[in-house]
Amino acid sequence: MIARARQSLGRRTMSAVIIGAGASTVSLLVVMVTLALAVGRREFVQRAELTGRMVSEYCVAPLAFGDLEGAHRMLAKLERMPSATAARLLDERGHVVAQWSRGGVPGRLGDPPALGETRFGDDTLELHLPVAYEGLTYGSLHLGVSTAELQRRHVSYLAAAVAALAGALALSWVVARRLARRISGPVLDLAATMSRVSKDQGVRASVQGTDEVATLCHGFNDMLDQLEARRGEILQLNRELEQRVADRTAALEQANRELESFAYSVSHDLRAPLRHVDGFLTLLAQRLGPTLDPQAQHYLEAAVGGAGRMGKLIDDLLSFARMARQEMARSEVDLTAVAREVLAELEPETVGRTVRTRVDALPVVTGDRAMLRTVFYNLLSNALKFTRPRAEAEIVVSHTRNDAGEHVISIHDNGVGFDMAYAGQLFSVFRRLHKAEEFVGVGAGLAIVRRVVARHGGRTWAEGKVGGGATFSFSLPA
Ligand SMILES: Nc1ncnc2c1ncn2[C@@H]1O[C@H](COP(=O)(O)OP(=O)(O)O)[C@@H](O)[C@H]1O
Ligand SMILES: [Mg+2]
Repeated sequence: MIARARQSLGRRTMSAVIIGAGASTVSLLVVMVTLALAVGRREFVQRAELTGRMVSEYCVAPLAFGDLEGAHRMLAKLERMPSATAARLLDERGHVVAQWSRGGVPGRLGDPPALGETRFGDDTLELHLPVAYEGLTYGSLHLGVSTAELQRRHVSYLAAAVAALAGALALSWVVARRLARRISGPVLDLAATMSRVSKDQGVRASVQGTDEVATLCHGFNDMLDQLEARRGEILQLNRELEQRVADRTAALEQANRELESFAYSVSHDLRAPLRHVDGFLTLLAQRLGPTLDPQAQHYLEAAVGGAGRMGKLIDDLLSFARMARQEMARSEVDLTAVAREVLAELEPETVGRTVRTRVDALPVVTGDRAMLRTVFYNLLSNALKFTRPRAEAEIVVSHTRNDAGEHVISIHDNGVGFDMAYAGQLFSVFRRLHKAEEFVGVGAGLAIVRRVVARHGGRTWAEGKVGGGATFSFSLPA
């Protein structure tokens, strides 16, 4: 990661510097070379014109006096001027009166340009100058000058430009390399520090100089300081919060214990007077029963029934409270045996009914046998109770394992079922979905089941459908 960054950042800086330097050097050289070429060319033309004018002055006399011999001699003198390649002397009407060419090679000159003009050919500059004296024109000189020297100069300019460009590029490469190191060095240091910070919060980036990278390092260090301070605050808050939660939980547990023990002692104390009420009502019914009118007999029966229900309620409450207080006597418990035992005990409930029960192979678990027996008792008695309207009741006790590897025991029946919207409330004390006139009960059974299962480290849940049976399940750690 860091190695890649080094390449990328360093290279980018270098290419930026080299491209920048190269581009400015090239544009500077283009301007300079263009200027130099233009100046060189003008000078070249001026020199050629000067030479031409001198020669044309010498040709005034031969032309004025028709001295062809002299004209030839004049032109032949051009032999000593190395750049001249050919020349023609023309009279007023444009007829050639004398001509010369270097080494006698003919055809070096084409038609002359307009008088007073110059024309660049492939390798020759052609001039056409008037031969005049004191306002009188006697003819013209058509002169060819070799441009070889000009071309040589062009080549040397270009060579110098290329050399200058190469020099500038080499220099900018050296500068760019140093610059890239200076920029990428601190950035890479910062990156390395960042990756070290994840392991050691005390690490800080080293700051060199006062440039942008140094500012970045300062900012980074400030951020780390703040993060650390915040982390400290959060940890402190967390500790406080944990402490508060622990305090509240302890207070809540204490309040719960007090409430339960209050309920337990109240229930317990209610038992004796209730037994008196029940006993004396029964005696009264026996003694007065036959003498009472039917209305009074009904009142007495209702009172006995009420006392009985209240007794059952108190018993259930006490049993529910006991499930929380009682020490657990742990042992290996064979749940198949427990289920069969409970079904045998509930046999009287099935008299006169068709009830088919099936108990699959259930596991052997570690737990309190008596408590687990209560679980099966409550679930199976419910299953029997709520299948009473069925002509043929079916009850299945099965076992599977869930994703967490726990044992899951389910008691399924084909009874009246219940509305799933209330499934969460069934396990609360005295919560019933069915009327007491329809199905007797006080509503503590499932609360006891949940409490026992929770004490064994498991969960309880129910699935059902109105008129479509119910399945009550609980999990136990394997
Ligand atoms: N097998 C079942 N089928 C349908 N409803 C049930 C079943 N078991 C329990 N319930 C519902 O849950 C309520 C609470 O059950 P429980 O705590 O055992 O109390 P109780 O049996 O005294 O009514 C019941 O009143 C009933 O509405
Ligand atoms: Mg019940």
